[in-house]
Amino acid sequence: MNAPAVEWRQTFPGTAQQVARVRRFVALHLGDRREVDTAQLIVSELSANAVRHTNSGEPGGRFSVTLRVEGDQLWMGVLDEGGRAVPEVCKADERAEGGRGLDLVDHLAESWGVHGDERSRTVWATVSLSPRLPCSGRSA
Ligand SMILES: Nc1ncnc2c1ncn2[C@@H]1O[C@H](COP(=O)(O)OP(=O)(O)OP(=O)(O)O)[C@@H](O)[C@H]1O
Ligand SMILES: [Mg+2]
Repeated sequence: MNAPAVEWRQTFPGTAQQVARVRRFVALHLGDRREVDTAQLIVSELSANAVRHTNSGEPGGRFSVTLRVEGDQLWMGVLDEGGRAVPEVCKADERAEGGRGLDLVDHLAESWGVHGDERSRTVWATVSLSPRLPCSGRSA
């Protein structure tokens, strides 16, 4: 039988300093997974974008991070408070300063996408998880 899905969600104030807390949130829940670094990178980029490019970065703004593990699939989503910008991968010649975050996500994630509109968007990404190593050093 498949293990049931497990989900964790946390809401953060919309400031750049919170991105370090987001990384710790990912490590707390996925620290025993080989893909933890990839997950931290992806969720950091998406969180930084929520702060920088959406209303979540306005005074009093917030964003929420969700991690969901279902079988061997990890789904990560960052919910923001919307705005006029639209998440899209910048072309190589537009990347003089920045414009690399979503390109990185595009390379690291198995799939990614965007739900929502200018009132609120979720930018999400998925990664396959490798089987957990059996615990070593524990007696039965
Ligand atoms: N959550 C979002 N909502 C609205 N627009 C977004 C969002 N995330 C990204 N964007 C838009 O997509 C563009 C590309 O994002 P990307 O993360 O690749 O680059 P960047 O944030 O501009 O720079 P970098 O990530 O390299 O510091 C952004 O410049 C922004 O216009
Ligand atoms: Mg970015």
